Amino acid sequence: MKTVSFLGSPRKKGNTAMLLDSVIKGMESAGSTGGEYIYLNEKNIRPCQGCNSCKKEGAAGCVQKDDMQGIYPLIAKSDLIILATPIYWWSVTAQMKLLIDRIYGMDFTCGRKKVALLMTYEGELPNSGPETTEALFREICDYIKADAAAVMGVCTGKVQVKDNQKALDDAFELGRRLAGG
Ligand SMILES: Cc1cc2nc3c(=O)[nH]c(=O)nc-3n(C[C@H](O)[C@H](O)[C@H](O)COP(=O)(O)O)c2cc1C
Repeated sequence: MKTVSFLGSPRKKGNTAMLLDSVIKGMESAGSTGGEYIYLNEKNIRPCQGCNSCKKEGAAGCVQKDDMQGIYPLIAKSDLIILATPIYWWSVTAQMKLLIDRIYGMDFTCGRKKVALLMTYEGELPNSGPETTEALFREICDYIKADAAAVMGVCTGKVQVKDNQKALDDAFELGRRLAGG
């Protein structure tokens, strides 16, 4: 299975990165490769300009020439897309939103993909941040005709993910499941 993972946190070794690492380790333990790993914070991704060029007849995707031109083919060839983001202001980070807006330019008729959402957040559940974000994730999956394969959220208010063995174990198991192991 081909996978591409996107880290939406600016913190390379933060909670969300640790959670994603554990999912990838689980996938690898089930015999799947971790796939491509994209640290969105260091990518040059311009905001969608709403020009709708990508929707015109015969259009070859987005007309903006930035790092998305390298990311589009990675998404197109992947069976599984993992979106990992902290909750910022009841939603995904700006880095993740740039990616989401720009996939508007993609043709998703090329085959059904699985998409997984990993979130970390400070406030304990019930917390409308992760809840709203899960809802928008499911709407987006519906719109692009993808399978919402998994949603995992971890509260980091009291314990950081690196010290939260249960969260790390759950993420590892999720990786195994996503890899079909
Ligand atoms: C700008 C900003 C906004 C945040 N907004 C929320 C929020 O709306 N709800 C919440 O529960 N946590 C919020 N948090 C806390 C982070 O989601 C939480 O600390 C997360 O685990 C950070 O992940 P990281 O270590 O991968 O960066 C916010 C943090 C920052 C820096």
